[in-house]
Amino acid sequence: MELAPLWVKEAREGRNSTRNGLLDPPILEACGDVEGLSVLDCGCGEGRFCRILVERGARYVLGLDSCELMIEAAQELQSGRDEYRLADVQDLSFIDDEAFDLAVSYLNQCDLPDFEANTREVDSS
Ligand SMILES: C[S@@+](CC[C@H](N)C(=O)[O-])C[C@H]1O[C@@H](n2cnc3c(N)ncnc32)[C@H](O)[C@@H]1O
Repeated sequence: MELAPLWVKEAREGRNSTRNGLLDPPILEACGDVEGLSVLDCGCGEGRFCRILVERGARYVLGLDSCELMIEAAQELQSGRDEYRLADVQDLSFIDDEAFDLAVSYLNQCDLPDFEANTREVDSS
């Protein structure tokens, strides 16, 4: 929570070379063609990757994060095809079955006490 403002600033300034240069290409490749898809982003942070997915043609992106400041920051830049919600991704019982075509976890499961719970929840959503 204390680091959130710094995180948001760095993301907005595009200064995170680990993401821009190293992680984005394989994660985007794993996502494939997202044109027309509805996508769930677990642990979306300030929404950077959700916005990238929208730019690449996703029909709808829902970003979930347990940090209120991250969700508020993401909502500041939302475009109409992306939405953000405060939630613990270890419990996705509020999401209807088969509501999403694709689920993304970009550096999120490593933060979870029970990452398998998130995998199970995504599998059953
Ligand atoms: C390393 S950051 C990655 C953020 C974003 N995916 C990105 O790549 O910029 C991990 C994010 O997971 C969120 N997070 C940690 N535990 C969570 C949980 N149980 N449920 C939802 N989000 C969580 C944190 O608040 C943080 O925004």
